[in-house]
Amino acid sequence: MSDHPAPILSLQNVWVEYGDKIVLEKVDLDIAEGSFVSIIGPSGAGKSSLLRLILGQERPTRGKIMLDGRPLAPECGPDRGVVFQRYSVFPHLSVLGNTVFGLECEQAPLLARLFGFARRAATAEATEMLNAVGLGNSLHQYPAQLSGGMQQRLAIAQALIKRPRILLLDEPFGALDPGIRADMHGLIKQLWRDYALTIIMVTHDIREAFTLGTRVLALDKRRHDPHAPHRFGATAVYDLALRGDADPAAAEALSVSLNQVSSS
Ligand SMILES: Nc1ncnc2c1ncn2[C@@H]1O[C@H](COP(=O)(O)OP(=O)(O)OP(=O)(O)O)[C@@H](O)[C@H]1O
Ligand SMILES: [Mg+2]
Repeated sequence: MSDHPAPILSLQNVWVEYGDKIVLEKVDLDIAEGSFVSIIGPSGAGKSSLLRLILGQERPTRGKIMLDGRPLAPECGPDRGVVFQRYSVFPHLSVLGNTVFGLECEQAPLLARLFGFARRAATAEATEMLNAVGLGNSLHQYPAQLSGGMQQRLAIAQALIKRPRILLLDEPFGALDPGIRADMHGLIKQLWRDYALTIIMVTHDIREAFTLGTRVLALDKRRHDPHAPHRFGATAVYDLALRGDADPAAAEALSVSLNQVSSS
């Protein structure tokens, strides 16, 4: 492998503006295939906006986004999947039904129903994916019967069933208890390796960012105008490539310097 493989995703001079409010400014970012990028930053910095851009749900007001060296298609594609902090699974569908539904939408977009052989194949695939996320014993339960951690496992299965190459996670473990969170960290690392995913994860938890990421990116404003808070947008103010395992000392150091940034 060369030192600089072509990036799977490339953001070039990307801006997001709402009227005269600048949310993101001049974001330049190459993301290598197979990396696990953790994104941190204060509330309102534009982390979710960045994920929406990559999903194709939103267009940058300036700049361009390339996927595999080609301009990003203007809608969500099957190559990108997403998991939010709280996923709205369909309450009237079982765990298996929720997961099969993802395939039905893709393969039979008008009816969203598969029959016969196609349905059996979809059911087998969904069952395999639910086993992979640890829900193999809960196929016929309904979302209301699941714990928060199990619902997030279901959300991950729903995203992965479409075989995305890029998985976007927006604070996926934020609502979970610490013990359950640790289990989910193990799971997401395993899935990242098994499915050779590129993962971009937003988190408020710096330790989580360093535990999981191969790269940690901090979004924040470089400049503040106290009289016009919307005048400047956020951009990547820290971009750290991590080697091997998490480095808690680096996490502490970054945490301290970010606090300095936000209080200055
Ligand atoms: N449709 C919109 N119109 C105007 N402003 C918007 C719109 N969508 C988002 N914003 C603004 O963009 C900024 C960034 O929002 P975003 O949700 O990306 O932040 P975030 O970093 O994900 O924050 P959090 O950590 O709280 O989730 C916010 O100030 C928000 O108010
Ligand atoms: Mg957000």
